[in-house]
Amino acid sequence: IDAARFQADLLAWYDRSARDLPWRIPPDSGRRADPYRVWLSEIMLQQTTVAAVIPYFEGFTQRWPTVEALAQAPEEDVLSAWAGLGYYARARNLIACARAVAAAGGRFPQDEAGLRTLPGIGAYTAAAIAAIAFGEGATVVDGNIERVMARLHAVETPMPQAKAQLRAHAAALTPVRRPGDYAQALMDLGAGICRPRAPACLACPVRTHCDAAGNAPERFPVKAARA
Ligand code: ADE
Repeated sequence: IDAARFQADLLAWYDRSARDLPWRIPPDSGRRADPYRVWLSEIMLQQTTVAAVIPYFEGFTQRWPTVEALAQAPEEDVLSAWAGLGYYARARNLIACARAVAAAGGRFPQDEAGLRTLPGIGAYTAAAIAAIAFGEGATVVDGNIERVMARLHAVETPMPQAKAQLRAHAAALTPVRRPGDYAQALMDLGAGICRPRAPACLACPVRTHCDAAGNAPERFPVKAARA
């Protein structure tokens, strides 16, 4: 794949068709995303769908508009506001993280390595926040992006052994310019076009770069052989 052409085609599609989500800044608006809102959205989106997260995100940001406000909230208020989102360890880590950031002056660490040191922030979340909030050329890889990479390159190695290869493919395509829009474009592509079942190859903005388009794309990523 020609990385520069791939990035240009994907970003042009994102500029036309990005989902309008409350934690996003319109592409190329010139504004910077608020790290607090990016962090909060990425924590909520771990294991939870976009549609389920939106009302919770709106509720939290209205009630606690800054990381300092969230850090000062009584734990029981935050846990009851979280009720329904599930995985309560996330809510406990959310409070611990807000308090750590507030104690450090209210600024999130601005790179992937610094973000990783905070409670509840793993490899995926650190890369997503670094790219989206701070413009770092971090490689964001979740299950959706693994599927996109497996199809683009028709990776025959079964999961989970293919993971390292898929991450390497993702890294080779990550741009230095607009890494946050690029990461969210891949997420939108995985959610709406390069779906697990019945991918919409005819509507795909990067089909000309894809080894699997129109060629049994659902086969990828190849499942583990059964024991
Ligand atoms: N899933 C995880 N992070 C996301 C984001 N920023 N936009 C859409 N879906 C996501």
